[in-house]
Amino acid sequence: MTDRLPSPDFAYADGALNAEALPLSAIAAQVGTPFYCYSLAGLTRNYRALEAALAGLPATICYALKANSNQAVIAAFAGLGAGADVVSGGELRRALAAGVPPDRIVFSGVGKTRDEIVLALRAGILQLNAESEAELDLISAAAAEAGVTARVSLRINPDVDARTHDKISTGRKQDKFGIAIDRTLPAYARAADLPNLEPAGLAVHIGSQLLSVAPYRAAFARLADRVRALRAVGHDVRCLDLGGGVGIAYRDETPLRFEDYAAAVRETVGDLECELMFEPGRSMVGNAGILVAQVLYVKQGGIRPIAVVDAAMNDLARPAMYGAYHAIVPVPQPQNSQDYVEMDVVGPICESGDTFAVARSLPPLAPGELVAFGSAGAYGSVMSSAYNSRPPAPEVLASGDQFAVVRARLTIETLIGQESVPDWLEPPPAIRGGA
Ligand code: LLP
Repeated sequence: MTDRLPSPDFAYADGALNAEALPLSAIAAQVGTPFYCYSLAGLTRNYRALEAALAGLPATICYALKANSNQAVIAAFAGLGAGADVVSGGELRRALAAGVPPDRIVFSGVGKTRDEIVLALRAGILQLNAESEAELDLISAAAAEAGVTARVSLRINPDVDARTHDKISTGRKQDKFGIAIDRTLPAYARAADLPNLEPAGLAVHIGSQLLSVAPYRAAFARLADRVRALRAVGHDVRCLDLGGGVGIAYRDETPLRFEDYAAAVRETVGDLECELMFEPGRSMVGNAGILVAQVLYVKQGGIRPIAVVDAAMNDLARPAMYGAYHAIVPVPQPQNSQDYVEMDVVGPICESGDTFAVARSLPPLAPGELVAFGSAGAYGSVMSSAYNSRPPAPEVLASGDQFAVVRARLTIETLIGQESVPDWLEPPPAIRGGA
């Protein structure tokens, strides 16, 4: 099987791969490689598709910034009407800077600091999703000090297995997230008793890259059961945050359809008359982005040919971190599928883990040729690092036949400039002025 990019926004035209109506080679000529490229049409289509599936439900879509927190990407979603799901003070500031209205921002996360809570309360965000009873105490104290009432929802751990990658499964009872479901009633009562807190509802997020609707149905049904139990003892429960997690196609998976997801929502919590919040990340940006790299060398390895490209695990960590599969396609349109050979595709970093693909079927590649890694819009650039002193790759947003660099390539001067040598350290010979 040969790779294809699962996105109509990155397609071949006139013999080469385009981003919307732009040849990627033209972008590469201007910004250099490697670079991330996002399609505005792709972002828009994804958002509109979820919005359409949820039509008729009292829903707010809070785009999960963690998937891709570039200002242009956040601004694009905000322009479509999205709110934001943030998990740190930094993400909160990014959402505000990109123009997301504070009353459409929810703050999730298992370890919010007091400073982050204060920042959120000062900004007047919609709600904090508290993940422990101790966090409720802290939010209450911070809100009292700031003289405000904090709207909170309790993130519940429903003990449901999302059947996704172990490292991104969050709703099993052994996972660190949320308040154990059997503590829902006492925790909610505590929130109701604490000063300066307004408990509004419950929240859940069971994992990421879910390809089946069954775990959602189970988790949402458990949540609905807790809403009824809370109401039975007199609590006001008016909102449910259902998290994110909808899976996309990286290879030949059938992505979870928004329609099926929305049907599960309607079936399980549709009759509760709660306002609903959704926190999609990957499904909004994953397939609207690619990573473009250049082939540096092709050598005959001990087992099969190895293509060394100029992108590495510092740019796209998912293969090294989760064994994730990203489609790889050449930018010049391949002519003859009979020429395809199995090869490994690796980056220049000094670790064997810096391997993007093993025995991947690809057309013969030549040094200087460009390749694109698919489904890289989510958890790509945001997870990049400067390992091996490789400045993280720039990001480009394409729309029709125009593009803009929305994050410049960091320079090694910037990285070195953040560091300093203490003046009590004996200066090395080159700085002492002698050999
Ligand atoms: N809400 C909460 C509370 C979350 O923890 C997450 C993701 C989301 C929403 C968005 O989930 P999504 O719709 O994107 O699946 N780095 C990993 C993914 C980590 C997901 C963490 N939480 C990866 O590259 O696959």
